[in-house]
Amino acid sequence: MLIGGKWIDAVSGKTFETINPSTEKTLTRVAEAEAADIDAAVVAARSAFEAPSWSGISPHVRTRYLLKIAEAVDRHVDELAVLETLDNGMPLASSTARATQVAEIFRYYAGWPTKMFGTTNPTDSERFIYMLREPMGVCGLINAWNVPLVMAAMKIAPALACGNTAVLKPAEQTPLTTLRLAELIEEVGLPKGVLNIVPGFGAAAGAALVSHPGVDKIAFTGSTLIGKQILQASAGNMKKVTLELGGKSPNIIFPDADLEKALATAVATFCGNSGQICSAGTRLFVHESMHDEVTERVAKIAATYKVGSPFEPDTKLGPLISAKQMERVLSYVKAGTEEGASLKLGGDRVGNQGYFVQPTIFSSVSNDMKIAREEIFGPVLSIIPFKDEHDAVFKGNDTEYGLASAVWTRDIGRAHRVARALKAGRVWINTYAEADPVMSMGGYKQSGFGREMGAESIEAYTQTKSVYMRL
Ligand code: NAI
Ligand code: MG
Repeated sequence: MLIGGKWIDAVSGKTFETINPSTEKTLTRVAEAEAADIDAAVVAARSAFEAPSWSGISPHVRTRYLLKIAEAVDRHVDELAVLETLDNGMPLASSTARATQVAEIFRYYAGWPTKMFGTTNPTDSERFIYMLREPMGVCGLINAWNVPLVMAAMKIAPALACGNTAVLKPAEQTPLTTLRLAELIEEVGLPKGVLNIVPGFGAAAGAALVSHPGVDKIAFTGSTLIGKQILQASAGNMKKVTLELGGKSPNIIFPDADLEKALATAVATFCGNSGQICSAGTRLFVHESMHDEVTERVAKIAATYKVGSPFEPDTKLGPLISAKQMERVLSYVKAGTEEGASLKLGGDRVGNQGYFVQPTIFSSVSNDMKIAREEIFGPVLSIIPFKDEHDAVFKGNDTEYGLASAVWTRDIGRAHRVARALKAGRVWINTYAEADPVMSMGGYKQSGFGREMGAESIEAYTQTKSVYMRL
């Protein structure tokens, strides 16, 4: 782990294994942080924050550090991609694209330190009143395993741009790219203790970070269940909290849509990262008149998706992250069949080594079935018929989640009407899954708390102070 600029073992000396989900073999062992290590990391982050080696330096210098990190990532894209594919199982083309995206995220936030403003406020001639924008302090960052490197960048870049210091706990399934990224960040000469990495498990390392009185802010990505626990556990010293949680996103296709594009994209989104994406379009709403045709066409496209080694260039689906996740996904396939949905494609494991699952499609799903209500986090699509626009929006919104959504239509009035009516943090029109560092992301309802990326991350990692002066 990385604490106070030193690569060290856990206080307990414990380590844990991280496996390659394609082969089920151990890749390596990693230091296992527990409460004592978290404490040391928080102390290091606090002293780096107050030095003030980080929050007090010129914003131009912070910009230069972030640009250097972006350049270091650019130079190591291939290496980071291979490491991500080994540890997480995503196809190499995806991990390569994502490593490139990581550099963009650092570059985007590199522009912010010199452009974060307070305000000079209107008042009478007897006073001078203004507002300062200041960092939060020590940020505890906790990530999931599905897109580990991108998530690390999404939290580290804005936290550091705003002058905070950080303690990051990567997911126990995928610590490797975060550790390598931290090594690259150290090499650009970041002051010691500004960024600390504490690999470990949620119950020990994660929980200790969330309840630590020396942490000012928590940013978490993971399940809604753990998100709720984090909100409660962080109340002790009133940490500022942002949560990026689960989803069950509606992808609504109207009969006037460019069907070829819509259906190809519908398959790409539920199969992308083997379905382990919080914003995946897992509920496909189609007009009842098109239900059978769409089912047939979508199944035909998905059947061409190759499941296999993520290092083979034509592979579309790598393995799921773990045996536990595979069992969870297969249990949903069983639930779907038992509840009377019609299994049109897939539903099984592929091979007997590695956690590979076929693209799986259920049609004639009703929105109250378990497979339509719960986040599966695997390559499983539910096709649900609707009657008209109102019915589509009603059913699309009939979920406890609100992370993302999409609408496909050539009717521009309908496109914007539905975009407004959908209760979700993102709406895609005639596309899916597009992202840009300038745009924020986050959840309505139980999909989250606060926003990440774009200018909203700056707000999430700073606080304002009002200063009143009598002249
Ligand atoms: P999880 O929510 O348990 O894990 C996410 C992160 O939280 C990990 O770093 C973990 O170590 C940490 N964590 C766990 N318990 C904690 C605690 N008490 N205090 C602080 N940190 C804690 O997710 P898990 O178990 O890996 O996956 C289960 C399901 O959650 C998936 O099948 C999926 O449906 C959902 N999930 C959703 C994600 C999303 O981005 N929406 C990401 C990961 C999982
Ligand atoms: Mg792994």
